[in-house]
Order: sequence, then structure tokens, then C-alpha cells
Amino acid sequence: MGARKVSQATAASGVETLRWRDGRLELIDQRLLPGRVEYVACASAQETAAAIRDMVVRGAPAIGCAAAYGIALEALRLADAPAAEFSEGMARAHDALAASRPTAVNLFWALARLRKTLEAAGREPPPAIAARLLDEARRMHREDVEANRAMGAHGAALLADGARVLTHCNAGALATAGHGTALGVIRSAHAAGKRVSVIVNETRPFLQGARLTAWELTRDGIPVTLITDGTSGHLMSRGEIDAVIVGADRVAGNGDVANKIGTYMVAVLAHRHRIPFYVAAPLSTIDRAIASGDAIPIEERGAAEVRGHGGVEWAPAGVAVRNPAFDVTPAALVTALVTERGVMPAPDRPKIDALFKSVGRDS
Ligand code: MRU
Repeated sequence: MGARKVSQATAASGVETLRWRDGRLELIDQRLLPGRVEYVACASAQETAAAIRDMVVRGAPAIGCAAAYGIALEALRLADAPAAEFSEGMARAHDALAASRPTAVNLFWALARLRKTLEAAGREPPPAIAARLLDEARRMHREDVEANRAMGAHGAALLADGARVLTHCNAGALATAGHGTALGVIRSAHAAGKRVSVIVNETRPFLQGARLTAWELTRDGIPVTLITDGTSGHLMSRGEIDAVIVGADRVAGNGDVANKIGTYMVAVLAHRHRIPFYVAAPLSTIDRAIASGDAIPIEERGAAEVRGHGGVEWAPAGVAVRNPAFDVTPAALVTALVTERGVMPAPDRPKIDALFKSVGRDS
């Protein structure tokens, strides 16, 4: 990809997943963590789309924020172009970002919001439009952190003092603009003085659990134990897990949840062992246009991710591989959905519709 490496320093405290510096979008390179903390800079929508596709930045809300900045970057880049060229460039930017990854609905939600801003700007000169788009991207960045903090405050009440909490993948600060969704709930419970400990699945094949969640929690001083993806059933059967909490890439209108591959397996196991299974996701992850999980597009990634990792191949060359990056957990297995508006036990279509109505969003 065309983005440039900009710094190699270890971040002092907290995790800045995305930041706006000197007119460019800087992204912590999540492919390198936890070994190296490096930022790459994107100067165009194409570079941002490549960073999303290559998983420099990942996690549904972080992808949405990156895409919003990607649109703003393109507008700034084309600000001196004639109006027709500017609007053609903006359409191309939108298409490139929309094609980067298919499952996280936050990407499409962010693009729709920026398109609305663009349309509202009408015939203003391109530099003014670019300024508006950057403002909107910044607003979305701030709003995501606020939503995560609200989700954390609501969800923390679900975790008892001493709870041993299983999570899958990374739904932390790295997957969002800050604080995290599922990890945000755990962080807020920890901050409230609850002695929570976390068990994290390594999350094959990209290892978001082993590399990213374990890193974030260790930095925060929250006790964390790493397990292989096949271990959680054994621990549940021995009474060693009290609750499960995960994030989501897209929640269908009926409450079905698409999340990182392996989540469904964990939900079935939790149900078998009568362990609560919680999903933390902002309203921007709920897609009411999709009736059920069957219609959620599931990204299939390349075979190389499964045949090996980090340049080491352990499978026979050319062996057939399936690599769906997400699966769908039916709403019936979800004990509660935590959003920035509160805790929704047993999510379903009427409750989700009522939630959107209560925030004045009917469509
Ligand atoms: O492929 P990824 O790493 O982008 O998948 C991320 C997840 O599945 C997360 O659980 C989800 O996006 C929620 S992030 C708050």
C-alpha cells in the first residue's frame, strides 16, 4: 500500500488508534503489534482504503472512523480542482472505501453520513466542503469515544466483582476510536473497582486476541489469560468462566450478531453451560435494513492467513482453505445487547425498533 511509516516510538499511555496530524490520517499499524508500535500516514482515500483492506486498521468502529477521514482526505487533496473533477473524485473515493471490507456496517454508516454532509454543502467551493467533511469526521471520532464510555458505564453493571470474563477477538481501544466496546465494558468495571479478570481466545487466524487484546489489557493492568480458541469449552465445563462479552461487526434488525469467526462457537458453548453471553455494540453497528443474520455479507479472506502466519507456513503448500472472517450468532443466544443507550436483554426486532424510535431515528 502507498501509506508511509511515520514514527516508531512506543506510545506513552493509552492507545491512539487513529489520529489527525499535519493534514494526514495516522493509523497505528495493528499488523505489527505487540512487537512494534508504528504509525502509518494516509494522504488519500485510496491509501485509507488499502489500510482498511490490509488490516492496518480493523474493528468495526475504527474502520468507520478511518473511512470518514478517508473521504475528508480526498476532499482536501482535490480542493483546488474544478467542481466537476472534485465531485467525480469524491464519488471514486466513496467507491474505493466501500469496496475495502464488506462486513462491518460502520464503514457504510460512516460513508452515508459523510455523503449527507457533502450533499448538504451543495455548491459551496471545494475547500469549504473539505473543511465541513473533516469537521464531520472529527465529530464521528469524538462521538465514538463517548458512545464507548456510555456503553462501558451501562455494561459494567452486568459484571460481578471477581467475574472471570471470556472475550474473543479485539473489541478494545484498537478496534474503536478509544476505550472499546466489549473491552470498554471490562475497563469501566475495572475502573469502578470490580476485580474482573479476562480470558481471551487467541482468535485465529489474525490473532487479534493474542496480539491486541492481551496487549491492551496488560498495559492497563487488567489481569488477562490467553487461551487457544479450542480451550473455552473446557474452561466453561469446569466452571472457570462467569460471563462472555464480545463486540460486533453488524447487528441485524432482529438482533442476530455478526462478529469475528469463532464467536458463534463460543455463544453455543455459553448457552450449553448457562453462562451469560453479552454483545457490546454502538447504534452505528446496528443495521436495521438487514432482516436477519442470513443476509449479512461475510468477508472471505485469503488462504495465506490460514496456512501460516508471520512468514511461516505450516500447512502443505496449496492445501484447500476456507477463511470466512466472521460468523453469525443468532439473537436467541444473546443474553443482552449493550449499547450507548443502555442494556437490552434478549434483543429482538421490536426492541431494536423501539430503541431507534426513542433516539428519534425511525429509518
Ligand atoms: O477482522 P477484524 O479484526 O476487523 O474483526 C473485528 C471484530 O470482529 C470485532 O469484534 C468487531 O469489529 C467489534 S470491534 C469493537
